[in-house]
Amino acid sequence: MTNTLHRDDEPRALRLPSTGLPADRLGRPLTDLRVSVTDRCNFRCVYCMPREIFGRDYVFMPRAELLTFEEIVRVARIGTRLGVRKVRLTGGEPLLRRGIEELIGMLAELRTVDGAPLDIAMTTNGSALAVKAQSLKDAGLHRVTVSLDSLDDATFRRMNDVDFPLERVLHGLEVAHEVGLGPIKVNMVVKRGQNDDDVLPMAEHFRGTGYVLRFIEYMDVGATNGWRLDEVVPSREIVERIRAAYPIEPLTPTAPGETAARWRYLDGSGEFGVISSVTQPFCATCNRARISADGRLYTCLFASEGTDLRALLRSGADDAELKSALAGVWSNRDDRYSQLRSSATDGIASHGRKVEMSYIGG
Ligand code: GTP
Ligand code: 5AD
Ligand code: SF4
Ligand code: SF4
Repeated sequence: MTNTLHRDDEPRALRLPSTGLPADRLGRPLTDLRVSVTDRCNFRCVYCMPREIFGRDYVFMPRAELLTFEEIVRVARIGTRLGVRKVRLTGGEPLLRRGIEELIGMLAELRTVDGAPLDIAMTTNGSALAVKAQSLKDAGLHRVTVSLDSLDDATFRRMNDVDFPLERVLHGLEVAHEVGLGPIKVNMVVKRGQNDDDVLPMAEHFRGTGYVLRFIEYMDVGATNGWRLDEVVPSREIVERIRAAYPIEPLTPTAPGETAARWRYLDGSGEFGVISSVTQPFCATCNRARISADGRLYTCLFASEGTDLRALLRSGADDAELKSALAGVWSNRDDRYSQLRSSATDGIASHGRKVEMSYIGG
């Protein structure tokens, strides 16, 4: 991403001396690859795929435009040579991609630079989990993160905007837990006036269960959700609401680059997290690269342009060329959109049209 606030005195193409793996211009390593396997979704969450835009006439990607499983695995394998340790499958809704288990099986064979298996995770809306959890587990998926915005059926149906019943997602969560797709994380996007009354009921429901609930600040991602700052519930407010009900204390981060700040209940009933991309951006440690379903490489969730890896893959490039293309993009990366947004005087850093989260992957 280029931006007008770029300064020439930023560090250039740093290298991590101990590993020889590329770091970006702000010294951040590449460890996490998020792969969108489809731009389609059976939900129309108000903050992600508003119905007015993603209606009947919306044209999704034709199948031929999608990366094949072989192409995805090739990119992931080259990613592992540059430091990737975790692959997260996203969408749209990843379970809508036919044969996803086959892709998981192929990814499960990859190894990191140290010879360890990759951490293979998936972000899903949970609608098909009850049916799919066992086959996903058998294929080699390690864990799922399920989006769930309310425990009130009416609110849940309103937020997914396709009248999808809460009960089916709760059942999906249970089955995922039973087959061992854990630790399971539950992501709740909090939008003021829509579901902020559900913060405490969600905390109550999930404490003591082993599921890790994370509250996510509603972000200005994409160009269609009509985002307004006054609809964001700052994480600090969420923490205070929970603290008023239960004694809690902050936990130290488990891994560098983690999105969530973690808190634990002092009575031993587990933890929850807050993801504060608006009020406390975590760009400084952002180690994530994203591949859209049509094979564009994006180095920021808020990017307006990506690098066309599909063209390169289909041009007959060999592994060395692909590796150097990937390493080149990463070494040149200076994205830190959320950080610039929060420090920009007008509230929003100057920017081109941003891509949609359903396209680039959550
Ligand atoms: P773990 O692997 O379990 O740590 O998951 P994660 O937190 O990396 O991934 P997940 O898909 O659960 O991310 C949760 C939410 O955090 C996403 O849906 C986004 O709302 C937000 N998020 C994730 N990555 C980024 C990022 O790079 N930038 C910003 N601004 N938000 C992000
Ligand atoms: N703000 C925050 N998170 C979002 N997601 C999608 N749109 C937004 C947004 N505007 C995330 C949610 C959801 C995942 C698929 O994408 O976390 O669970
Ligand atoms: Fe679909 Fe997830 Fe976006 Fe909701 S947030 S519309 S479930 S991709
Ligand atoms: Fe990373 Fe961009 Fe998100 Fe910052 S805004 S954490 S650089 S994806």
